[in-house]
Amino acid sequence: MRLFIALEVPAELQAELGRRMERLRPLLPAARWVRPEGLHLTLCFLGETAPAVLPRLEAALGAAFARHPSFAWTLAGAGTFPPSRPARVAWLGVEAPASLAALQRDVEASACEAAGATPESRAFHPHLTLARPLSPWPREAISAWQAGFAGWRSPAIAVTAGVLMESELGPGGARYRRRAEFPLGGTT
Ligand code: 2AM
Repeated sequence: MRLFIALEVPAELQAELGRRMERLRPLLPAARWVRPEGLHLTLCFLGETAPAVLPRLEAALGAAFARHPSFAWTLAGAGTFPPSRPARVAWLGVEAPASLAALQRDVEASACEAAGATPESRAFHPHLTLARPLSPWPREAISAWQAGFAGWRSPAIAVTAGVLMESELGPGGARYRRRAEFPLGGTT
């Protein structure tokens, strides 16, 4: 199973982003666009994981999420990876309190220990991936991408739980399935 741990995006916001992606798509070079219903904020990507690990993993994630309070985050600002280079990933930025970074560190450490996986060595840059260019986008396309979201902010997104997701790769792109949900512990 190809697994990752994420925060969900409310359905109305997914739909709004879907409409914005439809409007932007003809203005930009070819890319694989994320299906609106697949939009999420990844905390930790585990990759291929043996099903036998699931009970241990779910117990560790339940405990980790329960240690952290609920909080709210906002989407604002469009950017691309890698920075200052032709774009391979087009994303929206995330504004969140320090609670998000603390939650991510704990969730990643707990999940990796339970699943016997290696934690990501790169720093956590929270983002929502909307498109993966087929060939890296040049500077003009990056500017068009950023202009498409200039001045836009999402409403505040309240997080009360995290989810364990399974990714199924297919010809039309990855499909994501929620396997388990883990409530956050308290209120801020
Ligand atoms: P991304 O948003 O940066 O593309 C499911 O594939 C989710 O896991 C995606 O949101 C993806 O992040 C994230 N992810 C992180 N590392 C990954 C990797 N090495 N391979 C595939 N997905 C990864």
